[in-house]
Amino acid sequence: MIEAENLVKNFGSICAVDNISFQVKKGDILGFLGPNGAGKSTTMKMLTGFLPPTSGTARIGNNDIQKEPLAAKRLFGYLPENGPLYQEMTVLEILNFIAEMRDAYTTNKKNEVIEHVVETCKLRDVRNQSIETLSKGFRQRVSFAQAILHDPPCLIMDEPTDGLDPNQKKQVRNLIASMAEEKSIILSTHILEEVESICNRVIIIDKGKILIDEKPEEMRQRHPHYNAVEIKLGNTKLAEIKEEIQSIPEVKEIQINGDDILIIPKGGKDIINIIFDVTLKNNWSLANIEKAPVLMDEIFGDLTQN
Ligand SMILES: Nc1ncnc2c1ncn2[C@@H]1O[C@H](COP(=O)(O)OP(=O)(O)O)[C@@H](O)[C@H]1O
Ligand SMILES: [Mg+2]
Repeated sequence: MIEAENLVKNFGSICAVDNISFQVKKGDILGFLGPNGAGKSTTMKMLTGFLPPTSGTARIGNNDIQKEPLAAKRLFGYLPENGPLYQEMTVLEILNFIAEMRDAYTTNKKNEVIEHVVETCKLRDVRNQSIETLSKGFRQRVSFAQAILHDPPCLIMDEPTDGLDPNQKKQVRNLIASMAEEKSIILSTHILEEVESICNRVIIIDKGKILIDEKPEEMRQRHPHYNAVEIKLGNTKLAEIKEEIQSIPEVKEIQINGDDILIIPKGGKDIINIIFDVTLKNNWSLANIEKAPVLMDEIFGDLTQN
């Protein structure tokens, strides 16, 4: 388990992290979301012992990272924000170096785990290339490989898909999702879609404070257009249509935009069947009906604008 308890970090007069607490349990994939400068990386550096907190405690598997660093460090893998160091080392050299530092392996086992991450992270073709000659996508995969090398129960990843193309992003997300059940995972991102596709919990922070801590689906429900229905009709008796739809008790508001009609329910109610029945009953020629997409960025913007 990964635990932050009242973590605070001040840099001079800047309060980067302002009393943050949360726990990440086995099976959790926590998306740590927030705009640039929100305090995500600073929080992760405190969790992993790279920065001492101004106050508060970070624990990995019940070990205080400041007081019992060795016990804590065995239990996690960390993918830092700036990717792998040691530019002149090759991929295999770096993985060997990390494996030796991790210290827990006999020579045989070491080769086996390296072989395994080279395979999992698709690094075979570049294994003898130095880090400085790799593209951002491959560097990120090397970072990922060193983080999961010792198969730790906890993973702390700072923007693991940053700089990857859409296809690579998908691969990394799948890889993370495939390890989820057995691990406690926290990953930072500023991509809402990422949180929706792999996380089962989301914390949004801004200016060093937690704004929400909930399930992605609950976050979705904050949207003012949650469960809104979009219809397109073949006929143009718009005034009549508007009046009829407006009279449905579950409907809060109707917005007409050319051919597109957006119907917003009261209290986020699921009204798609009700709307469908009304169009049938009135013989409106229905060209299309669907739930309006929820633009997560609008929620994010709403929460972090003040
Ligand atoms: N070493 C540092 N010295 C001074 N200020 C810092 C330092 N590291 C981060 N900060 C400041 O702390 C705040 C949070 O930064 P960071 O944790 O990197 O945010 P995020 O990762 O969410 O983008 C920012 O205002 C940043 O400028
Ligand atoms: Mg950051």
